[in-house]
Amino acid sequence: MSEVPRSNAAARHDCHVRISHLRKCYGSVVAVRDVTIDVSPGEFLALLGPSGSGKTTLLMAVAGFDFPDSGRIEIGGEDVTWAAPNKRDLGMVFQRYTLFPHMSVLDNIAFPLRMRKVGRAQRNDRARAALKTVRLEGYGDRMPAQLSGGQQQRVALARAIVYNPKVLLMDEPLSALDKKLREEMQVEIKHLQRELGITVIFVTHDQTEALTMADRIAVLNFGELQQVGAPKDLYERPASAFVAGFIGETNFWPARAKADAAAGTEAEVELEGGDSARVLAVDGLRRGQAAQVAIRPEHIKLAPNGIGAAVEDAIYAGSITTLLAKTRGPTLRVRLETPEATPGGTIAVGWEPRNARAYAAS
Ligand SMILES: Nc1ncnc2c1ncn2[C@@H]1O[C@H](COP(=O)(O)OP(=O)(O)OP(=O)(O)O)[C@@H](O)[C@H]1O
Ligand SMILES: [Mg+2]
Repeated sequence: MSEVPRSNAAARHDCHVRISHLRKCYGSVVAVRDVTIDVSPGEFLALLGPSGSGKTTLLMAVAGFDFPDSGRIEIGGEDVTWAAPNKRDLGMVFQRYTLFPHMSVLDNIAFPLRMRKVGRAQRNDRARAALKTVRLEGYGDRMPAQLSGGQQQRVALARAIVYNPKVLLMDEPLSALDKKLREEMQVEIKHLQRELGITVIFVTHDQTEALTMADRIAVLNFGELQQVGAPKDLYERPASAFVAGFIGETNFWPARAKADAAAGTEAEVELEGGDSARVLAVDGLRRGQAAQVAIRPEHIKLAPNGIGAAVEDAIYAGSITTLLAKTRGPTLRVRLETPEATPGGTIAVGWEPRNARAYAAS
């Protein structure tokens, strides 16, 4: 019986996905703009971005349900840009359970094998093995309507992996589930991926989901790839103001450079409201150039001779308190373990220059 391989298999080398200079327009809308991403064998890549940023368009091009205007898609070293979906050896799971309602769970899972002309006995064996993989042994005779949402989504997952595809594509597969079930499924999908050694491209607009599940995250905005990197890289070294604002919590403070500064060096800026500060010029700054300074709430510290701010509110959350502190510029969110100030009081704040990332305003 050809069960889905379950060794702690080193990733299959044939499941390398390369997306090169992909572009797709719908009329005047550029849905995907010159996107290049290299997904390593066995990697879990999350495509993250706001609604309309091109995540589904990109996934559909990889799946072969839609063709790009230009660019190239390779799977396992083979150019599949123009290949039909069933020639690409991919599994797909969509947002809504897409099970056939009139077929039993087992028949649903065996369906792709039937399409591939696998004989009945072998089909059922492999479908049962896939059902076991998603931990739904014994549910084969039920109809989809007799399952919970999470169980239906696991059946969809079993159907996607039953023919041992090279790559699994998932488009917001958990967004229809409630929070608890979603978190359980996140862990299960991650386990399954490790077990199978399969490459996964997973679309989500939920940053927590992307941060917890992915080896790397590709952030899209208006069809443009903003940054690809490990969750920690994206959080600690966002490449653009968009990524800084989209991943985690960030204070933005408009500013103007007081002198030229090369990329990656410290710069002196005048902050909106008149205070001066030292910041990191991420891509370099020219004297007089406008910038957005991004500072995480946990990177703002109390500093005796720092920038004055009036505490407007204190949000208590156990070991951590978030102060809302009105400066001469914006109101900052300041995260402190032991806040010495209460609403109505004043504080003085500062930061390590490398933690205040200045992005040239475009
Ligand atoms: N078939 C289509 N015809 C015309 N425009 C389209 C079509 N499909 C997508 N678009 C447009 O292309 C852009 C990208 O859409 P896409 O569905 O890829 O976004 P998304 O990131 O998946 O968004 P969401 O998070 O809402 O699912 C949007 O501006 C959308 O309106
Ligand atoms: Mg979408």
